[in-house]
Amino acid sequence: MSEPLVLGIETSCDETGIGIVSGRTLLADEVASSVDEHARYGGVVPEIASRAHLEAMTPAIERACQQAGVALSDVDAVAVTGGPGLMGALLVGTSSAQALSWAIDRPLYAVNHLAAHVAVDQLEHGPLPEPSIALLVSGGHSSLLLVGDVATDIRSLGSTLDDAAGEAFDKVARVLGLPFPGGPHIDRVAADGKITIEFPRGLTQARDMAEHRFDFSFSGLKTAVARWIEAREASGEPVPVADVAAAFQEAVVDVLTRKAMDACSEYGVDHLMIGGGVAANSRLRAMAAERAGERGVSLRVPRPGLCTDNGAMVAALGSAMVTAGVEPTGLEFRAQSSLPVEETRLT
Ligand code: KG4
Ligand code: ZN
Repeated sequence: MSEPLVLGIETSCDETGIGIVSGRTLLADEVASSVDEHARYGGVVPEIASRAHLEAMTPAIERACQQAGVALSDVDAVAVTGGPGLMGALLVGTSSAQALSWAIDRPLYAVNHLAAHVAVDQLEHGPLPEPSIALLVSGGHSSLLLVGDVATDIRSLGSTLDDAAGEAFDKVARVLGLPFPGGPHIDRVAADGKITIEFPRGLTQARDMAEHRFDFSFSGLKTAVARWIEAREASGEPVPVADVAAAFQEAVVDVLTRKAMDACSEYGVDHLMIGGGVAANSRLRAMAAERAGERGVSLRVPRPGLCTDNGAMVAALGSAMVTAGVEPTGLEFRAQSSLPVEETRLT
């Protein structure tokens, strides 16, 4: 099978994503988000997300098939996020995928959401050079990865010891009085800010290098921002929201790009990809381009719509697995709310 037609289902958090690819060609990318229903709670409410997935699933599959101009009977394989993610949300996706795979009698791949954030880039920029360094920055995870064949060979070089990068954006946005999810709002507001405050860069001191060279820590930064705002409020002066947002964003992006470049040097790899929701951040994209350019590292970042959660990324990884001759998962598996990135699929 040279160009497998793969339908991907993503429901690990608050986006119901259905993607259809033919090989590495994207044919449909349908995303229905329940984000507005969570906004007033200041975070994703698992029960609301699960219900929304249930309602969105069938219409989203229908729209994706229409968009791609294919019938379900044309599909060669089904891929679904098997983990990590919210258990109830994952179960809606995996049960739907099991039912679909059984009904159309096609193989089912239960894939790793984190690996899918990396694989999606192949839809836009072609085969990922082997090996590549991947900086994966989302709401739930922040890791540096050494990636061979994205379908089968991912090694974690380091990850966050506390908050994920996106989580830090969301928490700092909240203390700044910006809506949930905060990342895009900080990105927007920071564009008008001046960087006059120097916030801490976690795990970048010489003493951290032995044990945590490729790990991240953002909770100290988050606390430093909260303390700075408290002190400002206590002094009776207004909080310069744009300046704080810009200084916070600069601290995160500085650490992320510095460590990504360091990983490229350490492993002698001159290809870097950045994936996950935070990869949509305009300052991260700009600083990564600048630092990669200075060092002769080629940089690949999917367009923002493919960085945040979607079904195309799941279809992309499923398609890479079909092409690599990977055994399908089959119908008998359980979704896993935690799943290490090295396990590119459930077995
Ligand atoms: O990958 P994703 O859509 O979901 C997870 O797998 O977690 O990532 C969501 C995260 C949220 O924390 C959101 O605030 C952040 O990505 N995000 C951004 C931007 N767009 C989304 N963070 C910074 N700047 C952005 N433009
Ligand atoms: Zn994600």
